[in-house]
Amino acid sequence: MFVLVNLKTYPCDPVAVAEAVRDVNETTDARLAVAPQAAHLERVADTGAETWAQHVDPIEHGSNTGHTLAESVANAGAVGTLINHSEQRLKLADIDGSVQAAERAGLETVVCANNPAQIGAAAALGPDAVAVEPPALIGTGTPVSQADPDIVEDAVDAAESVDNDVSVLCGAGISTGDDVVAASDLGSEGVLLASGVAKADDPTAALEDLVDPL
Ligand code: G3P
Repeated sequence: MFVLVNLKTYPCDPVAVAEAVRDVNETTDARLAVAPQAAHLERVADTGAETWAQHVDPIEHGSNTGHTLAESVANAGAVGTLINHSEQRLKLADIDGSVQAAERAGLETVVCANNPAQIGAAAALGPDAVAVEPPALIGTGTPVSQADPDIVEDAVDAAESVDNDVSVLCGAGISTGDDVVAASDLGSEGVLLASGVAKADDPTAALEDLVDPL
């Protein structure tokens, strides 16, 4: 299972969480990675934790004030990027452009979507993975795998009907090892989560609990 910890703009110490991700990754067959804010990418990557960007824009070098260039996050140490997170929605053409920009820079891609129909559209753009996250469950602590298992299974079916090679992840409300196992049982190859680790008093313990049953 792939466990990608999105730090959003939570007021956690990104280096401390990254060190926990790095250390717990050594103890498990699961693959752990962390997605800090763009400004923290280099310091986080320097810990040795697998580091992802939260977003890249559909742009090249040039006149793009305030945008995030895929090559810049790759140079800062990111190996992959989220695209179209629920909190950073893009138009379809811009999702396509961001996937192409990320691939140009050698970044692995996870395109997020709200529901199975959008998962199908996202899979058609050729990312490495898609992630279904019902917005209403994000940050609630109620896991998608429990509150809406059909959405995960339907997302897996939607992605497979478009592209058998695309991985499907799920996210929203996931915070325990049981949630990760439930996601796996529904056909998900990984989970996206944030508050369960970024807001935890002890991120290492939270990560250990997540991967314990795997
Ligand atoms: O990117 C993961 C995120 O949207 C889920 O957030 O806090 O429900 O784990 P959370």
